[in-house]
Amino acid sequence: MVAALGGFLFGFDTAVMSGANGLLRARFELGDFMLGWTVSCLIIGCMAGAAVSGSLGERFGRKKVLVAAAVLYTAGIFASALSPSLGMFITARMIEGIGIGITSTLCPLYNAEIAPAKFRGRLVAMNQMATVSGIFLGSFLAFGVSSMGNDAWDVSTGWRIMFGTGIVPGLLFLTLLFLVPESPRWLIKKGRAAEALPILLKIHGEELAKKEVLDIKQSFAQDEEAKAASGRRFTPALRTVLIVGIIIAMLQQITGINAVMYYAPEIFRQTGAGASGSLTQTIMVGLVNLIFTALSLWLVDKLGRKVLLLAGSFFMTLSLAIIGFAFHTGRTDGPIVLICILVYVAAFAISLGAVVWVILSEIFPSRIRGLATAVATMALWGADFAVSQSFPPLLASAGPAITFWIFAATSLFTFLFTWGVIPETKGKSLEEIEAMWEKKHGDKQESYKPSLQD
Ligand code: GLC
Repeated sequence: MVAALGGFLFGFDTAVMSGANGLLRARFELGDFMLGWTVSCLIIGCMAGAAVSGSLGERFGRKKVLVAAAVLYTAGIFASALSPSLGMFITARMIEGIGIGITSTLCPLYNAEIAPAKFRGRLVAMNQMATVSGIFLGSFLAFGVSSMGNDAWDVSTGWRIMFGTGIVPGLLFLTLLFLVPESPRWLIKKGRAAEALPILLKIHGEELAKKEVLDIKQSFAQDEEAKAASGRRFTPALRTVLIVGIIIAMLQQITGINAVMYYAPEIFRQTGAGASGSLTQTIMVGLVNLIFTALSLWLVDKLGRKVLLLAGSFFMTLSLAIIGFAFHTGRTDGPIVLICILVYVAAFAISLGAVVWVILSEIFPSRIRGLATAVATMALWGADFAVSQSFPPLLASAGPAITFWIFAATSLFTFLFTWGVIPETKGKSLEEIEAMWEKKHGDKQESYKPSLQD
């Protein structure tokens, strides 16, 4: 739960920013372009944070780097609340973004590395649960603060309170991090098995802990052999799994979820809902997201990743296609658009929302896990940036029908890609998953069996 708090930080910021952007526009007299930049400069920071998280996490350990990320996030969001100028606000948001980028990579990774196989999906998906809780609470906070004073107060002070409140989850995350142990897999990789064993004993009990140490050691030994045998860092199996990871990360974003998260009020307004109607509808979206994410937590280790992805992308495709038709034929005055958007959000929450983070934390072999997760997460943030930047102009130039059909097409592609390419990883240990990729795409080799004494 402590590690999952990292997800809360980024959900919270997403919601506060969508509540505050109108106020920032008024306070700093921003045009469209500068407003877009003020919102999305955070994502640039996130990409940078994700980019460095892999090598830092490998070098210094998961825990120390997460502590640094918590400091960056807390300092950044606090400085943004106090900013006297736009320049300082943007700089502060980028620093905050670096913290969020690091947690978005290392928090799911940490949970995957520390979890027993049968609960791994659930523990990693808790990160997504924290993200959607952050979105939900953040939007209530933004709504509550903006109804506290008049418009002038909102513009001068209201937004500062919204961002300033972010130091509460930031400091909580920072303090609690001191209570969690380092990742045992990372310790073994660094030749510190003696420190890893007590942690594994606590998690698994005696029998399983020893088996885990051996399995982890063996997977590192196999990695070394594979590297020595091929003379390359990137064997064919590693290349395949990295490409699969990058594609599934980007699909989570280009199927349009953040167009709905960031711009839901705008979409509802296009259907003719009034300001208060569109706010109620936005809150319904948050609630559905929360409920179905909780459901995915419960199902991900029971039904498996693949079934959830297939079911989710199927209903996403269907609901997006119907929204497109509603706009195309001008029949948007009934509840059809709202219903389909809720179905779409539910289908996303139960599939791509949580499951992609789970897959990214578990499909990569230990040797490249830190680095590969970082590269795939960077691709995810890059795709998020592209969608959130291009959605408003796309909506204005191509119209809502075409825009939603484009997202329907990417959702259909996700269905087919999952069907053909994504393996089921439910209940397998990280080392078994690694062996599965090697068997399918790698060169076969005899492997060395390590002992506890090694
Ligand atoms: C996932 C996505 C994130 C999105 C959220 C919505 O965490 O990575 O971009 O905002 O789901 O629930």
